[in-house]
Amino acid sequence: MADKDSIQETHNYHLDIPMKNELFMLQGSNSLDWGMKNRLSNIFNPETGRTVMLAIDHGYFLGPTAGLERVDVTIVPLLPYADTLMCTRGILRSTIPPTFTKGIVLRSSGGPSILKELSNEEIAVDIEDAVRLNIAALAVQVFVGGEHETKSIHNLTRLVDMGNRYGIPVLGVTAVGKEMVRDAKYMRLATRICAELGASYVKTYYVPEEFETVTASCPVPIVIAGGKKIPELDALKMAHNAIQQGACGVDMGRNIFQCEAPSAMIQAVRKVVHENMSPKDAYEVYQNLKKEKK
Ligand code: 5RP
Repeated sequence: MADKDSIQETHNYHLDIPMKNELFMLQGSNSLDWGMKNRLSNIFNPETGRTVMLAIDHGYFLGPTAGLERVDVTIVPLLPYADTLMCTRGILRSTIPPTFTKGIVLRSSGGPSILKELSNEEIAVDIEDAVRLNIAALAVQVFVGGEHETKSIHNLTRLVDMGNRYGIPVLGVTAVGKEMVRDAKYMRLATRICAELGASYVKTYYVPEEFETVTASCPVPIVIAGGKKIPELDALKMAHNAIQQGACGVDMGRNIFQCEAPSAMIQAVRKVVHENMSPKDAYEVYQNLKKEKK
């Protein structure tokens, strides 16, 4: 116990400094509890309010996807450049060093493989295990318009309830079926449904027309998926356009890990996301780093 005689008189009340009452950096997130905000701050960089999520969860329905055959060899070296890693608990426990202290967004739905109807997913993790893994968010696929639409939305709402009990945010991942039109109208519908039903943030695909209406009509942050591999400059243009039209980051997989120089690419993507760098300049960064093999 502290010695009573050494207790100093309290007098330094800084009466001239009003206590700060700052808004949280992410839109639609002010009413969240401290734990949620703390976890979201481990996904979104508090200085820019944006994130470069490295998505490597594809194996949960695709098996050993190109570029992810050896996560220890190809992905672990990229971790210093990611704000967050999105992966399954199997890869997390088996391959990701526990010294990685940035946010983990845990793939939390699954079931069907690429050989079956993909929308037929179930919740694939117990909340206690998610807590044990100290994750930053739970990610769930939502198939608006898909065969098992209601079930996938129910997966989202159940995970939101579980996450709310423990202060863990939920990322709603909008999955667009092959038969659906990938346009702003669909993305507005799908992202808004995720937000209305409690997702803390939403992942969607970028659409070249009216993407700003998708970000405007979704009350919580939006991040874009990279989608299938395209030329590096085009991927940087897509990321740049999405950010300038209101997205708060990217959750990019194949356009990073399927690149000839994944480390150079993720560093170039960071420039676009966090520094508003033009795609042309970021591409130059990519090429220089690629030459230097960095
Ligand atoms: C799989 C996912 C992926 O994480 C997502 O598609 C991002 O990866 P990519 O940039 O390769 O599209 O949610 O369902």
